[in-house]
Amino acid sequence: MTIPKQIQIIHTCNACTPGAKELIHVDCANHIYPDGSHGIHEMCFRVLEKEIVALCGPNGSGKSTLIEHLNGLLRPSSGNVTVMGKKLDLSLSDIWRDVGVVFQSSDDQLFAPTVLDDVMFGPMNMGFNIEQAREEALSALKAVGAEKLSDKIPGYLSGGQKRLVCIAGVLAMKPGVIAMDEPTSDLDPLHAQMVEDIILNLKNNHGISIVIATHDLDMAARISDRVCIVKDGSIIAEGKPKSIFYDKNLLEMSGLRQPNVVRIYEGIRKDPGVIMDNCPLTIDELIKNISRMMRES
Ligand SMILES: Nc1ncnc2c1ncn2[C@@H]1O[C@H](COP(=O)(O)OP(=O)(O)O)[C@@H](O)[C@H]1O
Ligand SMILES: [Mg+2]
Repeated sequence: MTIPKQIQIIHTCNACTPGAKELIHVDCANHIYPDGSHGIHEMCFRVLEKEIVALCGPNGSGKSTLIEHLNGLLRPSSGNVTVMGKKLDLSLSDIWRDVGVVFQSSDDQLFAPTVLDDVMFGPMNMGFNIEQAREEALSALKAVGAEKLSDKIPGYLSGGQKRLVCIAGVLAMKPGVIAMDEPTSDLDPLHAQMVEDIILNLKNNHGISIVIATHDLDMAARISDRVCIVKDGSIIAEGKPKSIFYDKNLLEMSGLRQPNVVRIYEGIRKDPGVIMDNCPLTIDELIKNISRMMRES
């Protein structure tokens, strides 16, 4: 990774809800791995209550390293991470109660003999008795639509089923923030849609803030409240999905490509006879635009 001499923030964040409580604050954090590689560089990042924040950036830009700092799996080499108002230092070992992480590789997370045992592990670790832990685990499995998998052996599940169980395992601990690393990568369209619906449900019905690191810019456009563009270990731009995803130059210089909906919309809009005005982010919004344009022509 080349570390830029000076980070230029392209958009200042106008996407944060004014007055919203700050749950996580990463303040100028650097992480240098033992082999000298820079994972993140002067990283500044916030998570506010009840929001979906997307971290979008090319491979190696520092998304996973940032995510692992949010619940203390990694500690910054310099700079600070504050979670729920508490500065993360060596004595703070139970931050995983507040922030759950769903790893990119489900196999890194699943280890118990059955799905239920796996999802019960978190609540048990938090001091719940077996009955309470079972209740929490079953309710988390239900929330992700995986209650029928409770007796299965995790290793034999499909990739999509494993992802649901991993989300349940984190949800069972009732954290305020869940960070998911590439939550839809390697999933078939049905499971990717399920995960997307779960993310929205966790925010809307459980009041949980979600951080997603993703290459799937179409998904980020559909569901995120705020988008952060990660490049060379830093956030170089952040804003509402419309202002970020309609900025072609920004995405190109960040090694990303505009979401498909945006590319189609801009392609159609190039035609001088076409009047479309509201910059859609979802297929439904794009269809409404095209239908209106066809009615009016
Ligand atoms: N365990 C590690 N040891 C050494 N370097 C690492 C390690 N993990 C990640 N890196 C380096 O840190 C940088 C950021 O990686 P990562 O956070 O995995 O990016 P992303 O998730 O955006 O693909 C990359 O240059 C990568 O090679
Ligand atoms: Mg990664």
